[in-house]
Amino acid sequence: MPLIKVDNENIFFSFNKSESDQNLLLIHGSGGDHTHWPEKLRNLAGVNVYAIDLPGHGQSGGHGRRSVDDYADVTEAFVSAMNLSNVTLAGHSLGGAIVQCLALRHPEWLVRIILVGTGARLRVAPAILDGLLSDFKTTVDLVCDDAFGPTAWESLIQAGRKGFLKTGPEVIHGDYMACDQFDIMERIGEIAFPTLVVCGTADKLTPVKYSKYLCSHISGAEIAVIEDGGHIMGLEKPDEFTGMISRFLKGHKDFG
Ligand code: COA
Repeated sequence: MPLIKVDNENIFFSFNKSESDQNLLLIHGSGGDHTHWPEKLRNLAGVNVYAIDLPGHGQSGGHGRRSVDDYADVTEAFVSAMNLSNVTLAGHSLGGAIVQCLALRHPEWLVRIILVGTGARLRVAPAILDGLLSDFKTTVDLVCDDAFGPTAWESLIQAGRKGFLKTGPEVIHGDYMACDQFDIMERIGEIAFPTLVVCGTADKLTPVKYSKYLCSHISGAEIAVIEDGGHIMGLEKPDEFTGMISRFLKGHKDFG
């Protein structure tokens, strides 16, 4: 699996090449890594799929950041280092905030965006923010209790818990600080890219209301709702999730 040096940090990414000039770049959420995107999506045919580990996460080196803007800088530097154009950006949760931030910068390489389990404001419950530094393990349990929907299977939840514990308190705290300070409620209408908003009806961390707000303020945005999907909806419902994204990439508008 490839690594690229971006501003002196080794950034890991998974890559699936297709005979296409279309690029899909996947940005994971707080405390996650590229495996928070379903394998099926990472191997989607008909598009070149890149899924990065943000610095300080997964197999990347470097250090985590504490603001969405800083993570957006890293993402732009990755796109530039890889010389990518014709990019669809998909972001989950914190990743979705990074994508919104980039969309507001109107880079010429960006063509459309996919916002998954995210919002234009991402306030974090104080019990999570404070608890990450004072009682990391209990707080990870708290987050995992809310992160999955009713159909998530036990081994998926356990893997999620293990991944968070491995990322460590400082990096996850920085990620949640970035979320907590993120608020573009007043600017969201400036986003002018074709947009798909994906949400799960059982998402407790970023409720459907947040996605409806995005959809009603971004001109022409489509919403795709995953019944019983929790915050980690991509892994919980990989077929449905990948199907929706695949249809959007092909220009369909039928998300029912
Ligand atoms: N889109 C649309 N509406 C939003 C929104 C968004 N992104 N973010 C907040 N709002 C709404 C809220 O629903 C609330 O509406 P209401 O007054 O009609 O109930 C209002 O704006 C104020 O919300 P908020 O700024 O979040 O403050 P709060 O004091 O109501 O709640 C939290 C703060 C952190 C407790 C709450 O946001 C929460 O429980 N979040 C989910 C848990 C979490 O930590 N998620 C992590 C996200 S990464």
